[in-house]
Parts: sequence; structure tokens; C-alpha cells
Amino acid sequence: MASSSPRRYLIAGNWKMNNTVHEARELVQPIVHDVGQQTDVHVVVCPPFTALAKVAELVVNTNVHLGAQNLYPKASGAYTGEISAGMLRELFVSYVILGHSERREYFQESDAFINEKVKVALENMLKPILCIGETLSQREAGKTLEIVKTQLIAGLKDVSLDKADNVVIAYEPIWAIGTGKTATPEMAQEVHGEIRKTLKDVFGATIANSMRILYGGSMKPNNAAELLAQPDIDGGLIGGASLEAKSFVKLVEAALARKE
Ligand code: 13P
Repeated sequence: MASSSPRRYLIAGNWKMNNTVHEARELVQPIVHDVGQQTDVHVVVCPPFTALAKVAELVVNTNVHLGAQNLYPKASGAYTGEISAGMLRELFVSYVILGHSERREYFQESDAFINEKVKVALENMLKPILCIGETLSQREAGKTLEIVKTQLIAGLKDVSLDKADNVVIAYEPIWAIGTGKTATPEMAQEVHGEIRKTLKDVFGATIANSMRILYGGSMKPNNAAELLAQPDIDGGLIGGASLEAKSFVKLVEAALARKE
């Protein structure tokens, strides 16, 4: 991403089902200390629901922003075990991860259901981080671009032009998640370029150029710089490496170094 680009890097930590409230505090305090005052890279942490309130207290008035890992697309009612967008807003959540491959796989979330969530998030002033990505067998069958485009278009169906630039896309090849296998920068850029092209077709060039497309899948301090150097990679959605303050901070620093 050129420094003249309108897009600021975004580094987001997806903690998944990790960290008690106590552990969340231990993790976020050094992150706030090290990168909470800089404003050149947008930093987001996504704790489990149970730790959101505590982390919200610890990041207030800093440049570390709060994200959730899911929501249910109804305002309230008889949906046992679910959490609404309004409940997240009350805790100062500003981002929400939607359509993560783990939810698609373990909870059978469909593109249509994810699209409902994206729209409800936007109506409630939450910025969705819409995750898309192919399996290993889909990649080996040469279907990567087709799969990713289908998920993207379905996930963004009926999103209005005035809200589109609040959506963040995360390209996460499923075979790279938690496996230590990263897409090469060229492989990732190929898909990110195609995502940008599709966003241009849907929303027009100006909006598409302002939207952030993150890479996720075994992004670590030792491979971040070359991924972030790609023209259509605007940051990372980090799993494993976001669970240690030191490595997460290093990822933010890698984005800061690219920016200079
Ligand atoms: P890892 O960084 O552990 O591969 O996880 C990526 C991810 O799924 C982020 O949402």
C-alpha cells in the first residue's frame, strides 16, 4: 500500500475462544502501553464476549479499538445464547468479525445468514470484518477466485453505497489458518486484487479504493512485512500471533514501518 493511499493499515487480533477476563487484561495492557498512542496504524482487538466489558475499560481513550467475534441479527427476543448488535454497542464495540470460516464450518453459517448479520451490523454503526476464503481442495481444484468472489458478493448483497466503506474484508485461506502455512505474498495479492476488482464492480472505484482488505492465515512478525508490501493488502486479521502481546505489537510495528 503506497503511503499516498487513502487506506490506513488495520491490524486486528482475533482472540477466538481464548482468554478469561483476567488473561484478557494481562494481554491488552502491554498492547495499549506499546501502540495505544500512535495513530498511524488502526489497531483492533477482538476478545471473546465475556471479556469485552473489561477490555473496553482498558482501551478507553487509546487507539486500540474493540471488536466482537460475532452477533445475532435480531434486536432482542427469544434467541437463547445469542448477542445483539445493540448489546455490543453498549460495550463500545466498533468492529465485528462476521462469517469467519470456523463459524461457517462448525455452525453451518451460510452466505445469506452472514449477509443478514453484515447489514444489521452496519445499521447499528458496527464495522463488519467480513471473512472469506477457500479450502485447500477448492484451491487445488483451481476454484479459489470463484469461491472468494461468490462469498464476497453474497456477503455484501444489498449493502448500500453510503455504508460500504465501513465494511472491512478479510481474505483468510482456510488452509493457512492456524497451520503455519501462509499464502505467499503473490498468492495473497492475486486474490486481494480480484477482491478489489469485484468491489469496484459492486460499489464503484472510489468506494472500492477506500475499503480495507486484510489478509489472515498464519500471519506472523516474520512474514508480515512482505505481505503488507502488496498493493491490495491493507492489514491483517491475526489469530495465534495476537495471543501474545509481543508478537501482536511486532505486527503493528511492521505496519508502522511500511507506512514510513
Ligand atoms: P492464525 O493467525 O492463527 O492462522 O488465524 C487466522 C485467523 O483465523 C484470524 O481470524
